[in-house]
Amino acid sequence: MSAKKSVAVSKLSDEEAARELETLAREIAAHDKRYFADDAPSVSDADYDALKKRNAALEAKFPQLIRPDSPSRRVGFAATEKFGKVKHGIAMLSLENAFSDEDVSDFVERLRRFLSLGADEELAITAEPKIDGLSASLRYEKGKFVLGATRGDGEVGEDVTANLRTLGDIPPVLKGRDVPDVIEVRGEVFMSHADFAKLNKEQEAREEKTFANPRNAAAGSLRQLDAAITKQRPLKFFAYTWGEVTKLPGKTQTEVIEAFEAWGFPTNPLMTRCVSVEEILKYYAKIAGKRASLGYDIDGVVYKVDRLDWQQRLGFVSRAPRWAVAHKFPAEQAETELLEIDIQVGRTGVLTPVARLKPVTVGGVVVTNATLHNEDEIVRKDVRVGDTVVVQRAGDVIPQIVRALVEKRPKGAKAFKFPEICPVCGSHALREDGEVARRCSGGLICPAQAAERLKHFVSRNAFDIEGFGSKHVDAFLADKMIAHPSDIFLLEKKYGAGPKAIAAREGWGPQSAAKLFAAIEARRTVALHRFIFALGIRHVGESTARALALNYGTADAFVTAMTAAADETSTAFAELNAIEGIGEIVAKAIAEFFEEEHNRAEVARLLAVLEIEEAEKPKSDTAVSGKTIVFTGTLEKMGRNEAKARAESLGAKVAGSVSAKTDILVAGPGAGSKLKEAQKHGVKVISEDEWLQLIGDA
Ligand code: IVH
Repeated sequence: MSAKKSVAVSKLSDEEAARELETLAREIAAHDKRYFADDAPSVSDADYDALKKRNAALEAKFPQLIRPDSPSRRVGFAATEKFGKVKHGIAMLSLENAFSDEDVSDFVERLRRFLSLGADEELAITAEPKIDGLSASLRYEKGKFVLGATRGDGEVGEDVTANLRTLGDIPPVLKGRDVPDVIEVRGEVFMSHADFAKLNKEQEAREEKTFANPRNAAAGSLRQLDAAITKQRPLKFFAYTWGEVTKLPGKTQTEVIEAFEAWGFPTNPLMTRCVSVEEILKYYAKIAGKRASLGYDIDGVVYKVDRLDWQQRLGFVSRAPRWAVAHKFPAEQAETELLEIDIQVGRTGVLTPVARLKPVTVGGVVVTNATLHNEDEIVRKDVRVGDTVVVQRAGDVIPQIVRALVEKRPKGAKAFKFPEICPVCGSHALREDGEVARRCSGGLICPAQAAERLKHFVSRNAFDIEGFGSKHVDAFLADKMIAHPSDIFLLEKKYGAGPKAIAAREGWGPQSAAKLFAAIEARRTVALHRFIFALGIRHVGESTARALALNYGTADAFVTAMTAAADETSTAFAELNAIEGIGEIVAKAIAEFFEEEHNRAEVARLLAVLEIEEAEKPKSDTAVSGKTIVFTGTLEKMGRNEAKARAESLGAKVAGSVSAKTDILVAGPGAGSKLKEAQKHGVKVISEDEWLQLIGDA
């Protein structure tokens, strides 16, 4: 399962993340189906949660890669470990969608048929805006608010009682005497446009994360671990339906909503009652016309059968009521001129085309930029600078270019030529076979990627420079004290930033500055595999770096061979490709890295300031040489990395998962699935002490 063998999110490239998100979407959807539709779960809750967590972590790190079919979108958001879980006694369902007038009249006709209504029998239907927020269920017992939950996946939500209590719109105690023993009032938590704009401004001023849209802001605000933060966020609530209830306060939808209002809930003032398709469609047109001036996001109109006995008879189909439908607004579109196509370089080096537009209002929002996704998309849509284009905003997504109006194309408009040179650093921008993204190959020197690369360079498994955290990298970079990794070792020499100057900076003192310089000095001598890993070459993770170090032995030999391997027809390339564990893709990535002159120059600068240790050749005559070892559980005598390095230095291969090819599983306390797997394959299982004895370290 993907969550088990997962690489740290921070180490993934855009492509890798996109690929994993795709697999996760598929995997989670399959589990959802088995769990929710077939009632036959095939994984444990914990394993399922791990997948969801991984998906969430990837999405947090790569928000631009969130898929339309993401498991986090499909269900609003899934119950996470963050909050306690609440199993909804009555599921929080979704609604069927209607997109056209015809869909709506079909809906009404279906209702009439199902209820066998005569031609002149009245069928009242309520109509109300569909709020674009997140739904919540509020449980009241004897009139007191006792439990509040998010929708989660519809069956299980998150316990956000404390947070919901902070909303002024949610009464802690229901007003009036005629209150049922138990009632779950359900509705939408949302943020108004004005409050959203204000919040984002404040967040920006505090240098905190801003939100992409009011719905995200509402969700993010509600799902705070600290309810005091939720309290400061201007969240609103509209009540529109219910879950478990001991006695309903009315016989129609309208009457129940009126009771909600009497108990102290805000309900939507635009809710109305219609008795014909014509009235319904008129209402839809009216709301569509008001949409931009409502002050909060809506994405359609919801119609519900008014009589509750009829709702009961109509019941549900799969996950939605037969008695209701959501009439969605079409994506909002507008025409405007494409002024320019700019290329942005992301932190991982991906070149993304951005359309600069003549400002145009789309659904009440002024749009000046739109994404063009990638090179192929521009070709596919044949979008050219100067074109009149159709721009679309659908829900919360970033504006998109739908198409170019070829009939309006100015004479001489040329097809866009996607740059093959990084616009930020001038290195070659390359596309790997089968990849849509073109990326800058100047990883080490490209300012667009500098922060990410430097953070990687100083990270634990690379140079491991203690006291040089992410924040410091950002600050030093911003103040132009470092640009390239080699600058870290030249702080004093090149930039005059010695311990004294650093100590004078905000957040530093003499002690921390002295410590930093000591840490940097300590790393002037470094193991070859760490050096190679620190370069941040695409596809070169720790184990590949180790394989390279072992194979080439010294930094000089490595750099000479790699520079020669930049020519992919060379024997040096063939040799590289032949190293165990290195395939074509990895070899090519390394060759491309060294093909880039800027990178070679930085490597040379690094070699000038560093002392790189020779890699110890693994022994070939030990008890474990040539054996495949897997470690699992807690190791008590040494860290996992250390154990791995030791095993490798003795000529063993260390694998991450157990298979029939595994020779030995070293199992510490807490060993779980790997132990089972080993038993299944008849793999030899030993304790950490037995392992140390075997390798002569006991
Ligand atoms: S009624 C059993 N009314 O839309 C029917 N839902 O696509 C319960 N929503 O999960 C839903 N405004 O989050 C209803 N006026 C409204 C709504 C509304 C927004 C959301 C709600 C629901 C989703 C279904």
